[in-house]
This record gives sequence, C-alpha cells and structure tokens, in this order.
Amino acid sequence: MSDFAQRIHRTRPAATFAMAARARALREAGQKVISLAIGEPDLPTPDHVIAAAHAAAQGGQTKYPPVIGTPALRAAVMRKFARDQGLSVTLDDVLIGNGGKQIIFDAVMALIEAGDEVIMPTPCWAGYLQVVDFAGGTPVFVPCAASAGFRLDAAALAAAITPRSKLLLLNFPNNPSGATANVTMLQDIAEVLRKAPHVRIIADDIYEHLVFDGDYHALAAVAPDLADRLITLSGVSKSYAMTGWRLGFATGPRDWLRAMALVQGTATAGVSTISQAAAVAALDGPQDLLAERRAIYRRRRDLVVAGLAGAAGLDCPVPQGAFYAFPAVAGWLGRRSRGGRLLVNDDDVAEALLDEALVATVPGSAFGMTGYIRLSTATADAVLAEACRRIVAFSAALS
Ligand SMILES: Cc1ncc(COP(=O)(O)O)c(C=O)c1O
Repeated sequence: MSDFAQRIHRTRPAATFAMAARARALREAGQKVISLAIGEPDLPTPDHVIAAAHAAAQGGQTKYPPVIGTPALRAAVMRKFARDQGLSVTLDDVLIGNGGKQIIFDAVMALIEAGDEVIMPTPCWAGYLQVVDFAGGTPVFVPCAASAGFRLDAAALAAAITPRSKLLLLNFPNNPSGATANVTMLQDIAEVLRKAPHVRIIADDIYEHLVFDGDYHALAAVAPDLADRLITLSGVSKSYAMTGWRLGFATGPRDWLRAMALVQGTATAGVSTISQAAAVAALDGPQDLLAERRAIYRRRRDLVVAGLAGAAGLDCPVPQGAFYAFPAVAGWLGRRSRGGRLLVNDDDVAEALLDEALVATVPGSAFGMTGYIRLSTATADAVLAEACRRIVAFSAALS
C-alpha cells in the first residue's frame, strides 16, 4: 500500500512519452527504430529566436519573472491574439505558462473538483486525460466520427451536457486526428453552449498555424459572447519549433486567469526569462516561416497518406491540420503478425509495429478512441517514407 495521494494513484503517465521511451530503449539496444511517437517538430528553432535568448541572458534578464509573464511577452502575445485570432485583449488579459500544458493544468486545476464533469470530444490529446484524472474530474467522452472528418457534432455535444458539466475541452486542429474547425461547426457549438451557461470552455489552438485545407478559425472570434467563460490558448512549441523552451500563453476572462495564476504561482515562480525573451522574438519577428513550415508539414502529410495507402487493411483519412496521421486499424484486427502476435486491438497493433516493424506509433486508446494508431509526421521525408515502407511490409505479412 502506497501512502501517496489519491491523485497520484488515479493519474497515468502519458502513453506518448511511454512509447517514445520504449523506442529509445530499443534503439540503445542497437535496433534501427523509427519513432513517430512524439508530436515534436524536427525543424530547428529559428536563428533569430536563439539570438534573442542569448541577448537576454547576456543582457541580465536573469532574475525571477512575474508569475503571469513579463510585460514584454504579454504585450507580444496581445499583438499576436489581435493578428491571428482577431481578438482585442489588454496586457491584463494574458497569462504566460510553461507550455500550453501548464496553461491547461492551471485552467483545469482552478476549476475542477471531484465529480465535476469535463466534456472531452474524442479522440483527444492524451494530456487532457491525465489532467482531468489528476484534478479528480469525471471525463465525459463525445466521440467524433471519422466519417464526419472527426469534427464535433453539435447534437452529440448537447446530449453530453448535464447540470454537472463544468468544462468543455476543444482542440482544433486536433491532436491526434488532424480535424480542423470550420465556421459552421464553431457556430453550432456556440449555439449549444449559449443554452448551457454553466459550462466553461478551453479552446486549445496550439496547432493554429497548421491548417492545410481551408483557414484557421478561433471560437472566441466566431462567438465573442462566450468571452466571459472561454480560455483561448496557444504557444510557441509547435508553430515555431520551440518544444524545449516550454512556453505557452492564454487569454480569457480575468477571474479565470487570476485563479490560473494562483495555481501557477503555487507550482512555479513563472516561466524562464530567457524563454520569454525568445518567445517575444518568435511572435514579433518575421512570420513568413509559418507558411514555409506549413508547406513542409503539408508535403509530409501527403507523403504519409500516399505511403500508407499501400498498406491493405489500414484506412488513413487525410488529416486537415496538425502533424499527425490517424489511420484506422480495424482491417488488421483478428489477424496475426509475422512474429505470431494476434492483433486484438490497437494496443497490440502498436506493440507489434514497434517490435516487428521497428516503427513506434501510439495506439488510439491513448487518445480515448480505440481502433486507430497515431503517427507523428513531424519528421524528415526520407524517414517517413521508410516508416511507411515498413508498415506496408508489416501489413503484407499479416495472416
Ligand atoms: C493538443 C495539445 N495541446 C497542448 C500541447 C502542449 O504543448 P506545449 O506544452 O509544448 O506547449 C500539446 C503537445 O503535444 C498538444 O498536442
């Protein structure tokens, strides 16, 4: 019997990191593993961002920052929300955190108590499952069908809302499905939420700059009347290839931001001043790189969808955004791999692909939707092509 808190017993490590660790262990043992397990850009952090970090360190920006973020970065984020989301916010409406992940932690911990229901359209980012468990919330899953492009159906959302619903976690472009939001979907969701004024909303728009087909739309811009209960968050990890700098930001109603700052100030004395200076350079610097990088990820998306088309039994919808492919593996279930493993579910598929094809993926079960696997496409073209070849060979050997 462990004497650790209940919250430790009910929280699991992220399956994505667990899979990446297994891939790393196999690699260290001499196997030529390709890891498509983690959603991390392989592209470098831009040079001007790194230069700004050097300058900040050398210029003495080395003291404790304000918990809510430096005024310089909050001003840059304010400009960014105006530019990309069309939102008019002030310095006091911005919170800086250690990655989008901490922003979500702050927002959920500020709000959710045991028994509160958190509505989570699935598939969803594995991090949501973790934080809701940690907070003691009750997840209420609303499956988003592949046949509907993995978009959230407003009627299904309405049916999931109860008097105990406290929070809705939205993420478009979506990790893992790549689904994006169109204006109609956002309007329909907003209409449902207007009838449920007790439900707060987090719009996790971390993949906002990775929409391949159509445009990005922010819920906050489509439904400004939800402003008093809507957090919009983003960060520099995915857009500017800055995962290691740990920097995310949010805007939303002041009461919620204040509560989030209290959570954050309890856990940390704020975000590295060096990272904050770097993020100012990313947000205020040249933005052409976003379109250039989007074109690269789009090419890789096409490469993977075409590459996986040769794998009989695998059905890969075309992701509209983010940098993942999320193929259905139903056609493989009930079959046996060359190594003799019976594929009963997507966990078996991911295990067998790692052990036998030496490709690390993450099972859909980690994202609240079984029957799929997720592949990160944020990797060099040649590596992705080789991974697809291995997966095709794996499928050809199924009996
Ligand atoms: C949907 C989603 N939200 C938030 C995050 C957190 O990103 P970060 O903490 O690096 O800003 C991720 C990272 O994988 C993600 O996929």
